[in-house]
Amino acid sequence: MPASGVIISVSKMKYVHIREVLEGKHEGKKVYLRGWVHRIRKQKTMVFVILRDHSGIVQSVVKKGKVADSAYEDAEKMLVESLVTIAGTVNADARAEGGYEIQVDDFKVLQFAEEFPIKEDQSVEFLNDYRHLWLRARKVTCILKVRDQVFYAAREYLRKNGFYETTSPMFVSTLGEEGADLFEVDYFGKKVYLTQTSQMHLEPQVMALERVFTIAPSFRSEKSRTRKHLTEFWHLEVEEAWCDHECNMKRQEELISHICQSVAKHCQVELGDLGVDPRKLTSVKPPFDRITYTEAIETCQKAGLDIKWGEDIRTEAEEILTGKSDRFLFVQFYPKPIKSFYMKNNDADPRTYKNDDLLAPGGFGEIIGGSQREDSEKLLLDNLRRIGDDPAKYQWYIEIRKYGSVEHSGFGVGIDRLITWALGLEHIRDAVPFPRTVSRVYP
Ligand code: 4AD
Ligand code: MG
Repeated sequence: MPASGVIISVSKMKYVHIREVLEGKHEGKKVYLRGWVHRIRKQKTMVFVILRDHSGIVQSVVKKGKVADSAYEDAEKMLVESLVTIAGTVNADARAEGGYEIQVDDFKVLQFAEEFPIKEDQSVEFLNDYRHLWLRARKVTCILKVRDQVFYAAREYLRKNGFYETTSPMFVSTLGEEGADLFEVDYFGKKVYLTQTSQMHLEPQVMALERVFTIAPSFRSEKSRTRKHLTEFWHLEVEEAWCDHECNMKRQEELISHICQSVAKHCQVELGDLGVDPRKLTSVKPPFDRITYTEAIETCQKAGLDIKWGEDIRTEAEEILTGKSDRFLFVQFYPKPIKSFYMKNNDADPRTYKNDDLLAPGGFGEIIGGSQREDSEKLLLDNLRRIGDDPAKYQWYIEIRKYGSVEHSGFGVGIDRLITWALGLEHIRDAVPFPRTVSRVYP
């Protein structure tokens, strides 16, 4: 194995990325490439080496007599995923995948890989056990690139609209959402929790920064083994002062539309490789459709679903509401008992809050939960008493309402769910580099 010094010295060469070769930028010229050996095909006097870097794969051909004897021997004996550098001339070649081939005149193996454990046709369970290596597969790499674009586009939209990016603690002593789904942590003998949402700690920051967002993990110990549940998911949470329920929904539809347009524009290669029609994303534009929770229940009842006013909207209901549609749908004004105490009272129907869930098309279901927040200290206390919770637990959260309590709203986007929907993935774990589910914390 070469010492790291060797790698430092080769990195001084001017390497190009494979994408540039595939874009025809170096046709007829000599290039230096570096990366991993994706596939190998051997013939009598030549070895076809399919090279991979972060930007793509390209075929190169190492011919006996054209390179040093030792280099040819190395090419013959190396295994896939070996780390190599290549110098050679770029030729257009319609037979090669991507339309270009490198005629190699210098070839170096920086590290000979051991036999790669992942072969064709392995089970989902096996691939997930080898996630640390499976990440290199083209499909996974494409998903991760789209994921990167989603994060980038979200930040781009929010910054452009005057939002500060901030952070919130992951260890919390105040509950955020459902009490039942908390992960407890022993904190020097005291019981604390991993946060289910950053919202409670974003609200005080709104009193200072007015428009804030954070991108952070949220933790839920839900036992749900569905295709949409992780125990640790990435949560984009937005909180805005001087913003009511209407303004909050506008923000959500603009943000989601911007992300979809940005992915469609900047991830054309990846969408192509993943077989996703970009029109699925380019068609996402404001305004989104809206119905009230009460209308949603009526629609479901008419469709024959056994559901009563007051029950939550779950998979079957989501299927009825959006199964045949290619449009996002806001469901607004949910009954108080199935939503959180911090939501703003809906004067038009006091049984409900001024909140919304955003459902993704095709029956995918909820990807955002949002609401106007209750800014009255009195009403917040009423809500807590009604549900039998102890206001003392929320002292600091209630206290921010005593000093210049501003009308404000916010929402949380399940980023992994958004990616799962956008790419039509089978399971949410495929949208995450190292997923955490009820049954998996390895690798
Ligand atoms: O609807 P939720 O529970 O809302 C909140 O946590 C609010 N405090 C957010 C806010 O207003 N700042 O969660 C928000 C979103 C859901 O719509 C869903 O997309 C995602 O987070 N989510 C999950 N994603 C993956 N796995 C899970 N177990 C999830 N639970 C929620
Ligand atoms: Mg929700």
